[in-house]
Amino acid sequence: MQRSAGCHLPMTCNSTCHNSTNTSQKKTKLVAVTSMSNVLGTINPVHEISRKAHAVGAKILVDAAQSTPHRQIDVRTGDGGEIDFLVLSGHKLFGPTGIGVLYGRKELLREMNPFMGGGHMISRVFKDHSNWADPPAKFEAGTIPIVQAIAMGTAIDYVEGLGFANIHDYEAALLRYATKKLESIPGLKIYGPPCEAKGPICSFTIDGVSCEDLANLLDIKGVFVRHGHHCTMPLHDKLVISASVRASFAMYNTHDEVDHLIEAVKFALERLT
Ligand SMILES: Cc1ncc(COP(=O)(O)O)c(C=O)c1O
Repeated sequence: MQRSAGCHLPMTCNSTCHNSTNTSQKKTKLVAVTSMSNVLGTINPVHEISRKAHAVGAKILVDAAQSTPHRQIDVRTGDGGEIDFLVLSGHKLFGPTGIGVLYGRKELLREMNPFMGGGHMISRVFKDHSNWADPPAKFEAGTIPIVQAIAMGTAIDYVEGLGFANIHDYEAALLRYATKKLESIPGLKIYGPPCEAKGPICSFTIDGVSCEDLANLLDIKGVFVRHGHHCTMPLHDKLVISASVRASFAMYNTHDEVDHLIEAVKFALERLT
């Protein structure tokens, strides 16, 4: 459970429409998709989507910001399902703010022009033009955020050291436990697929209860959840709700903390209903 900040752009395909890849047309240039919905937790089949995108000559970009601390994505499958571009944020991987990763297939990065100018990005400058350095340097104009990069490396080593299989097993058990407990609260509705098809987050509403009031009362009890539209207004429109409350679990949370969440929800409900 944590506070989560930041907005992200609407994706062309998110968890609400992950079966809609058939709509890719010959004119489609780029399919952008989250690997894990930050609201529903849905794990999207990115390799299957990639194969369909490639079949119509499109590229795929995967937003892995939400899934990175929970599961690995192999960008090189060798069967047409490879990932062309992948992005993730440092702060969601228990690392620093102000840094993230943009992965791109080398041959694509070689073809692309830099979008910013600055130091360390050229191989040769002439009076009328410049030759760019090889990727990734040509996209890293200016002095890089050295401190953040070192801290990010430490965060990656830490998560890899724990082992993704261990993280997954632990979080899956925590999610099942939390889901069962939350579902026992009258009027509480969890959105998204069943536990097996999602990452460890539960977004929910409770009949007749304001999400903001609920989140504030949980805060008083030391439980940090995110509430609101989570930068996904169209999804909330589709669900016909104006907001939801999201409890996010990670490998540092415990079953006792889930119990504490449930007690805090009951505490809030006594005051709000
Ligand atoms: C799926 C997804 N993409 C992107 C972001 C935003 O990342 P950043 O804060 O680095 O802009 C978030 C954060 O909430 C997210 O959940």
